[in-house]
Amino acid sequence: MHSKITEFSELINKDLFEYFDNCLEDYKVIFDSMRYSVENGGKRVRPLLTLLFCDACGGDVKKALPVADAVEYIHSYSLIHDDLPCMDNDDFRRGKPSNHKVYGEAFALLAGDGLLTAAFERITDLYKAGLYSAEVAVNAVSVLSHLAGSRGMIGGQVIDLLNEDNADADIDSLMLMDNLKTGALIEAACVLGCVVAEADEGKIEAARKFAQNTGLAFQIKDDILDVTSTLEKLGKMVGSDEQNGKSTYVTLLGVEKCQKLVEELTQEAMKALGVFENNEALIEYAEYLSKREY
Ligand code: IPE
Ligand code: IPE
Ligand code: MG
Ligand code: MG
Ligand code: MG
Repeated sequence: MHSKITEFSELINKDLFEYFDNCLEDYKVIFDSMRYSVENGGKRVRPLLTLLFCDACGGDVKKALPVADAVEYIHSYSLIHDDLPCMDNDDFRRGKPSNHKVYGEAFALLAGDGLLTAAFERITDLYKAGLYSAEVAVNAVSVLSHLAGSRGMIGGQVIDLLNEDNADADIDSLMLMDNLKTGALIEAACVLGCVVAEADEGKIEAARKFAQNTGLAFQIKDDILDVTSTLEKLGKMVGSDEQNGKSTYVTLLGVEKCQKLVEELTQEAMKALGVFENNEALIEYAEYLSKREY
């Protein structure tokens, strides 16, 4: 692994948790529940991409950290809700019982809501503290709210539910679903790194292109692993898609074609990285993601 990947991962894993400290004893359970789902086992793909893009644009990664945390909070909330009985009904996540198995459905729901809100609090608090200019803070909130919202990740989760038990789902509908439910937040992660570094439009567009290809590849790989891996390796339920009657790229094309597609999308993603001066760590990370085993 490139030394920046290790270094940035350590920074993220230290910085994520301060938000959950100093909470009022009267309702501490909500902070415990939020912390529980952010802790352990997460690969930190999205916050790492934020720091790597900031660095590739020549920005200060310390300034990107709060925004990286914000993306990981939103991702963690999406996983808590995704596992609920009314959604994928999965009992394990990040190597532990899912949030609702420990805290119950109501606190799981609220922990998700708390994490979503915390993301925006982190960004605006740092504007108030003078770390970000008003322009950077507003741009960051705009990118994140759009891509995490109903025209982004939430929209994708809705298509996912509408597609359940639909044997006729076609590749275009699956592509839209994956681009939104997974690609959108990965796009936010990459673009936010550039926004914090105050990069030009050309770099932001390149980050979007990288993210759109990487995001689709990431979800196809997730669908492959749901079929080929184990609970021990993944830290989450396998066979979940089949159990829930989900149509995926894998049900349509099979594992082999899908792995080829993941590699092609990754090559396409890498083409967008030419405009960045320090792109070695990003290239290595994209390569790692396409070959990941968990
Ligand atoms: C899982 O994401 C859900 C998808 C959007 C595919 P990750 O595979 O990044 O999960 P963690 O963060 O490592 O637990
Ligand atoms: C999850 O897709 C996408 C989001 C959480 C937004 P999946 O339902 O395939 O993710 P896993 O496999 O449960 O992690
Ligand atoms: Mg799901
Ligand atoms: Mg799921
Ligand atoms: Mg999955």
